[in-house]
Amino acid sequence: MITRKSRHELKLMAEAGRISILALQATGAAACPGVSTLELDHIAEDIIREHGAVSAFKGYLGYPATICASINDELVHGIPSAERVLSDGDILTVDVGAIYQGYVGDNADTFAIGTIDDESQRLIDTTRAALYAAIDRCVEGNRLGDVSAAIQATAEEAGYGAVREYCGHGIGAKMHEEPSVPNVGKPGTGPRLRAGMTLAIEPMLTAGDFRVQVRDDGWTVVTQDGSRCAQIEHTVAIGKDAPLILTVI
Ligand code: MF3
Ligand code: CO
Repeated sequence: MITRKSRHELKLMAEAGRISILALQATGAAACPGVSTLELDHIAEDIIREHGAVSAFKGYLGYPATICASINDELVHGIPSAERVLSDGDILTVDVGAIYQGYVGDNADTFAIGTIDDESQRLIDTTRAALYAAIDRCVEGNRLGDVSAAIQATAEEAGYGAVREYCGHGIGAKMHEEPSVPNVGKPGTGPRLRAGMTLAIEPMLTAGDFRVQVRDDGWTVVTQDGSRCAQIEHTVAIGKDAPLILTVI
């Protein structure tokens, strides 16, 4: 069942979202050549705690950290480490979520480390365009397939792959609720969107083939062909006339 949130619940989700993006932006501001992904994890953890929230990720299915930090060909779920030090030219995806008074915010962004090549920048720009094209569809009366199709079309028109195995998701009192929000789909299919439904939309685009695999650590997802990839995510509420992004300051 896809739940619809009350105004009170949406207020709490907006606060969880605000804390989530504060943590995300702080990691982005600190992400420079020479900085380790573990340092970024501590920055995010401090901000979440200072705002009276807790990490949505730490302890989730045994995940050991506050953020996921995924570099270059790593798509999602990279585990922060003192040994993973950022280099000039890398692209880094940080994913972070906060639970505030029982409600969850979830967001991600892909950051340029130092100076990146034009193709990496285009990949990031296209991933952001895919997210906003999908958010544009988050209006009552549309269908879930319209959201997914917007991601797929934006990716494929730019010559990029849209990842199949990992999806966005419903979100609320739990991080992962119904429905699953695929990065590929057909317009006019799937459940009808209603005001108050809340989705974490997270396009994942690959510069090469869309196929991915999990490394031996059991968490880090990488592209099979070693191509770079990007992931950008917002938590969004379906509105009657317009979408409402909850992961904003
Ligand atoms: N943001 C991720 C998602 O959308 C959650 C990270 S997985 C975790 O599913 F295990 F690290 F929590
Ligand atoms: Co998510």
